[in-house]
Amino acid sequence: MEDCTSEGIDPLSMDTWDAFDSIEYVERNYGGMILPEDEEIIRTVITGLELLGVSPTSLERVADIGSGPNFYPAMLLASLLKPDNKMDLIEYAQPNIDFMRVLLSEGDHIYKNINKVGIEQSIDTHYPWGKFDALIADIGGKNFQDTFNRARIASRSIKGNIHELPKFWYDLVSSYFVAESITTDETECVQAISSVVQAVRPGGWFIFAVMVGSKGYPAGENTHFPAANLSVEDFRRIFTSISGIEYELIPTSVSNEKLREGYHGMAVILGTRINSQNPHPAQSEESMHQIHHPVHPSI
Ligand SMILES: C[S@@+](CC[C@H](N)C(=O)[O-])C[C@H]1O[C@@H](n2cnc3c(N)ncnc32)[C@H](O)[C@@H]1O
Repeated sequence: MEDCTSEGIDPLSMDTWDAFDSIEYVERNYGGMILPEDEEIIRTVITGLELLGVSPTSLERVADIGSGPNFYPAMLLASLLKPDNKMDLIEYAQPNIDFMRVLLSEGDHIYKNINKVGIEQSIDTHYPWGKFDALIADIGGKNFQDTFNRARIASRSIKGNIHELPKFWYDLVSSYFVAESITTDETECVQAISSVVQAVRPGGWFIFAVMVGSKGYPAGENTHFPAANLSVEDFRRIFTSISGIEYELIPTSVSNEKLREGYHGMAVILGTRINSQNPHPAQSEESMHQIHHPVHPSI
């Protein structure tokens, strides 16, 4: 997710979620070449899931929170779901819900909107994901084939709020660029992270991708959305303060200077909610350590 600087922007002048332009956002972030950061996130997640002992086609309840119009997190989750089970794509902003419902529906998959400055736009909601399907298959091997179609069949788009998730419900929850990218307020960000973690059953897993040092971002012409400006150390402090979890935080390399001034990279946080009945499940300390230092196959 592309970042931008927002020095001097009055928080009251931030846009409401109804102004989120899913077309501009998805085209800029996911429509062209896959960003090196997204590739690194995908590689880290696939490696981490294996090290954490999450078996393919083993989970019954999974969710991606704040999906927006980004479908690659759902594609990663699709390979973990038991056949015929559903996954929840929970999103707050109506434009993103509409985008996702067009992507998941039969028909021509064309989503249309009118942007903030009155321009009519349209997009084929399927076109960005073919290259992600190929990359995920390449990195993940036989268990991660055909994830676009598998995710389309398994996903349901649900209107919801990160702060109102069911507790102890999911086997695994992911959330990419949401907790820190919906508010400038660290306390609200921490509440959102805690809510996602609490939605996981004991012994289950969570995946976060976060923007580091973000000052906000656009989603459409003449729009500005908020972010909590947090460092890697801030995220470590926040996750360490949450009781009953084990986690690893893996910063991505800051490889794309074009993402602009003020950009400080991204990080993946992978972890588990400790099961007090069985406090040392598959994810031993050694496997947590290996997530941090994965052996990347060369491509
Ligand atoms: C920066 S975007 C990230 C979108 C997507 N996950 C991605 O990876 O590109 C932040 C997302 O959080 C959603 N959002 C905002 N408030 C929310 C809330 N209270 N609960 C859940 N999602 C929310 C926005 O609509 C938007 O889709």
